[in-house]
Amino acid sequence: MDFKKKLSEVLGKNIPELNEEEILTMIEIPPNSEMGDFAFPCFRLAKVFRKAPNVIANDIAQNLDKEEFIKSVEAAGGYLNFFIDKQYFIKAVIEEVLLKKETYGSSLMGNGKNVIVEFSSPNIAKPFHIGHIRTTVIGNSLYKIYKFLGFNTIAINHLGDYGTQFGKLIVAFKNWGDEEEVKAKPIPTLLKLYVQFHEEAEKNPQLEDESREWFKKLEDGDEEAIKLWQWFREVSLDEFSRVYNMLNITFDSYAGESFYSDKMPGVVKTMEEKDILQKSNGADIVDLEEFGMPPALIRKRDGSTLYITRDLAAAIYRKETYDFYKNIYVVGSQQNLHFQQWKKILELMGYEWADDCVHVPFGMVSLEEGTMSTRKGRVVFLEDVLNKAVEQTREIINEKNPNIDNLDEIAAQVGIGAVVFQELSNNRIKDYTFTWDKVLNFEGETGPYVQYTHARASSVLRRAEINVDNNFKSELLVDDITLEVLKKVQQFPEVIKDAQRKNEPSIITRHIIDVAQAFNRFYHDHPILVEDEELKKARLTVVFVVKEVLSIGLGLLGIKAPERM
Ligand code: ARG
Repeated sequence: MDFKKKLSEVLGKNIPELNEEEILTMIEIPPNSEMGDFAFPCFRLAKVFRKAPNVIANDIAQNLDKEEFIKSVEAAGGYLNFFIDKQYFIKAVIEEVLLKKETYGSSLMGNGKNVIVEFSSPNIAKPFHIGHIRTTVIGNSLYKIYKFLGFNTIAINHLGDYGTQFGKLIVAFKNWGDEEEVKAKPIPTLLKLYVQFHEEAEKNPQLEDESREWFKKLEDGDEEAIKLWQWFREVSLDEFSRVYNMLNITFDSYAGESFYSDKMPGVVKTMEEKDILQKSNGADIVDLEEFGMPPALIRKRDGSTLYITRDLAAAIYRKETYDFYKNIYVVGSQQNLHFQQWKKILELMGYEWADDCVHVPFGMVSLEEGTMSTRKGRVVFLEDVLNKAVEQTREIINEKNPNIDNLDEIAAQVGIGAVVFQELSNNRIKDYTFTWDKVLNFEGETGPYVQYTHARASSVLRRAEINVDNNFKSELLVDDITLEVLKKVQQFPEVIKDAQRKNEPSIITRHIIDVAQAFNRFYHDHPILVEDEELKKARLTVVFVVKEVLSIGLGLLGIKAPERM
């Protein structure tokens, strides 16, 4: 139950000077529960009423029409502190989860509006490396969060399957490539050819010209160029799909850069009509100086288009196709300037919906060992990272629980979940270093810890062999430790909405860690499968609601919640 909302209704009746929406945004959760369960600051009202905040707080406290759920209200330091009736609270929270089960925290607020989440978008013929993991898992999680809140979500993989690098690859393959080798080990071989191209081109600059010619041929529909390009694309996609399958990620569309190749002339024409293109050394640019940005190159002298041109075409196409409410791009912060220029150009082209296009940036991930630059060829493949995580998890589980059934399945769920969880633990904008130590820990603030807590709750419920329902005695649950657990459960729906508003899955990650920790304190302190049937039943409802929240939370992060591990 949304106590904040209920409180704002009560306060709204008592403070007609403020509307309920405003009040809702002002209600806070005090740092400790001695100060109440919720607090309403009166500082902003001081101006309206021309009284000191604490005087106002006192007035409101005395005159408030309290409803059943409010046990007491106190004025202190300019705040109104609300104490919720504990048993009312316990009943409301537990009954709601029992009723809604796996839909607890979901909402219809999205009203079926179309939200595009573009994520992952790796480059063809290049390794799908550890650097891509963040866009992939943040995007997938946002996709699930928006969906859970009632939006109609569309997952797009804007594959980097076009551009001058394909000219390079074609030249490299024609000179030094071997078909069988590409078939056997597609991406490593294509990567090797790409690296070789750069080495050779340093000695022989003419190769660069050749590669530009081949890309131009590709754009002009040359048969040989298209055939090679298609082949590179196919073998690369096969490799990417393996990783997406491991991560349980699916896309609604793989319309990547090449998809827009025939839509480029239309975009350039519109820009000409809007008179925003300028010639510069024979190329077409948009001058963005008055907006404090370098010019954007739209079309090269030889007529070939660029990354940004394709992104402009993509945005227009998406608006026409999906009439999106929001068009979200989960792309690293290295591309901030690109997206700023792109958005400004959409505005200059007169598209009001430019504002509904949102770049969701994130910081860099680095590994302890080595770099990830594709030019130098030293890369850490995401697939290898995931496989290693599964391998190590298998060993840990085998040690802890040697008799477990389907070890392979669970090792995959936990190992991959661990990597995903770590990615989603950090505020997305922060750079961070991937370390194995932190990932696979069953005790720390990790995925395995949360999954393990979920499995523990599942196991207690299995062993109890009774079904939980609304028939439990809330007076048996009023101790602090249990209340702490239920408070976290009660906050969960709000946490999901906050994650959506800020496009920040880590808000959910951190919250489910809190839930798991609170639950484990409860579990250590309160024997559950006790003789006393009433007590057992009451405590089992707590176990049940925690299990639901952990499973929903993990699900929103794109992580499985095993029943046993
Ligand atoms: N393929 C690009 C890369 O790997 C990312 C594409 C991001 N999406 C976009 N619409 N520009 O760097």
